Amino acid sequence: MKLTEKEERMLKGDMGRGVQCAMEVLVKMGELYGAEEFVEVKNAHIDAAAYTTIWDAGTEFVEFLVENGARVAVPTTINPMSVDRRNWRNLGTSEEFAAKCDRLENAYMKLGVNPTWTCAPYQCTNVPMFGESVAWSESNAVDYVNSVVGARTERLPDLVDVCCAVAGRVPKYGRYLDENRKGELLFELEGFDDAWFQDNVDYAVLGYLAGEIAINRVPVIKGLPQRTTQDNLKSFSAAAASGGAVSLFHVVGITPEAPTLEAALQGTTDYETIKITPDRMREMRRRLNTGDKEQVDMVLTGCPHLSVDEIGQIAKEIEGKKVCEGTDFWIQTSHPIYELAKMAGYVDVLEGAGAVLVRDSCLMEMEYNGMWTGKHFVTNSGKAAQYAPAINSVKITMADLKGCVKAAVTGKVPEEV
Ligand code: F3S
Repeated sequence: MKLTEKEERMLKGDMGRGVQCAMEVLVKMGELYGAEEFVEVKNAHIDAAAYTTIWDAGTEFVEFLVENGARVAVPTTINPMSVDRRNWRNLGTSEEFAAKCDRLENAYMKLGVNPTWTCAPYQCTNVPMFGESVAWSESNAVDYVNSVVGARTERLPDLVDVCCAVAGRVPKYGRYLDENRKGELLFELEGFDDAWFQDNVDYAVLGYLAGEIAINRVPVIKGLPQRTTQDNLKSFSAAAASGGAVSLFHVVGITPEAPTLEAALQGTTDYETIKITPDRMREMRRRLNTGDKEQVDMVLTGCPHLSVDEIGQIAKEIEGKKVCEGTDFWIQTSHPIYELAKMAGYVDVLEGAGAVLVRDSCLMEMEYNGMWTGKHFVTNSGKAAQYAPAINSVKITMADLKGCVKAAVTGKVPEEV
């Protein structure tokens, strides 16, 4: 790789062993991907926050960087940790595990991250500008920031994200390059009336389907309604990045690199077209639904972390009702969004109804202790539908937001599923 004078000095150790180590990792990675140079980034988002993803070895690596003088070089947000620090005892986390999470959290605080602890940093503080290069990991956030914001990042691996934050740069490869941002296959929506795409769950199912087919290609979606919101695209992003490995998509007439189909495809005429019909969506949803009983043990929302608007919608739906005994209702978000929801009066309504607001963490990143094995979850998240069965050995039924609230209140699968 061709390095600038400053990069040579970083690599030589002039800025300390921590920065040098980060640069050694990044140069190796750049060579691996055939990058010719680095690109400076304006900000970073670290995925490697959960103890369950990087364990002791990852913790030691972050501590090593800190002890050797490294600090983040650009504003850096961070993903959920493996523990809700305000309520971990009630959520089944052991003392020993919580202590390990504390150790990792302390290391990151010393490194200088903004303690957002969320997988949706774009609804908190970290909103890049169109065209800007950033160094993000966390698959939903990568997909969202590339596609909905039009900033540029690759799907960076855990701990490489930390090195990028410390070095303030990333090897220029993949989605940082214009030619790797063009649409590669077209999903054409056909036969949907206005009842469709009113709720995030349809975006999650469509995202999962697109991800499964596209794998790591760039899908272009044509036919989504103009009323599509950021929260809808958040659901789509998360599902597309877990149904496959999508890191960039375009929605014609909605996302910034797709004002037209031609723009999304960068003029290419050689592409595959896939028709998406209501029947195909129903079939995908049936495949995601693995639940085989009427009783619901857990309603899980907030994968990715909920926005204040989404929390408000749940509060409105559940006001005056109570969560059924024997059913848990988790609402996962970050503490900044929790504080907004508290000020808006939503938290009192939700907690009064018996829902649990999980802050700065999520079930799939928490200590695995088998307490959910074999349980039946209802969720509106395509990502949770993929991860929770794999990580927590649970069965899933997908529902829209109203259906989730109904399931929480009755303890039963909502009728419309
Ligand atoms: Fe976020 Fe956890 Fe889902 S990190 S995207 S809530 S698996």
